[in-house]
Amino acid sequence: MDYFSKIDINNTPKHVAIIMDGNGRWAKKQSQKRLFGHDHGAESVRRALEAVEKTKVEYLTLYTFSKENWNRPKEEVEGIMRLLVHTLVTELPNFLQNNVKLLAIGDTDELPADCREELLSSIAKTKDNTGIKLILALNYSSRWEIVNALKSIATEAANKQIRIEDINEQLISNYLTTNSIPDPDLLIRTSGEHRISNFLLWQIAYSELHFTDVLWPDFSQEDFYKAIVDYQMRERRFGMVSEQFTQ
Ligand code: FPP
Repeated sequence: MDYFSKIDINNTPKHVAIIMDGNGRWAKKQSQKRLFGHDHGAESVRRALEAVEKTKVEYLTLYTFSKENWNRPKEEVEGIMRLLVHTLVTELPNFLQNNVKLLAIGDTDELPADCREELLSSIAKTKDNTGIKLILALNYSSRWEIVNALKSIATEAANKQIRIEDINEQLISNYLTTNSIPDPDLLIRTSGEHRISNFLLWQIAYSELHFTDVLWPDFSQEDFYKAIVDYQMRERRFGMVSEQFTQ
């Protein structure tokens, strides 16, 4: 099926977020170690970015490493961090050539030093790019982010820098690590799991959700376009009724 030709190119989601899941199972199916799956997962990241470049999607957020992922075996955690550094180094010329602006959300101060340095360096080198915003969620968890936002707001309220009556949804959004990024219109999760796993809980209040059984290393450009077509068949009502959109 040629899903790309079915896309209404003027109505693509502005922001797509992806929970890239299934690397481990993909590797296991081939009697390989989990890191083999992550290596191929990184290739899927490149493919997904190329797919995004052919649409009008402006923001792509990838759930790359959660706070909970530190609990994995040491060898796997170290392997993912090495892969991250390697990918940042090898993909930088591509980001520069294709005008991709790299951003990160999450507790990036707590990443291993080499990883943090490479990340900050790539973010700095792409900061003037005006094309797709590629956002890596690294050492990210949504509850961590919300707790941090509440602590900052409470501190500023106690110091009388914020009035209680000024606390509203926009103010809370401003204190999240996603403050300069619009909420996702579409959230994709691969690998057949139907969970959100502590990802962007506040920001996906009105996002469309697309679940696919495809394991992340197998996720193709057609799978991405299929998700966009699925999104475009949905009616987003934001709590209103259909007639309010057709009048
Ligand atoms: C989930 O699959 C994947 C991860 C926790 C790591 C994500 C990392 C990558 C896709 C590769 C690197 C990405 C970049 C941006 C360099 P899983 O291990 O939970 O799979 P399983 O559920 O089958 O065990």
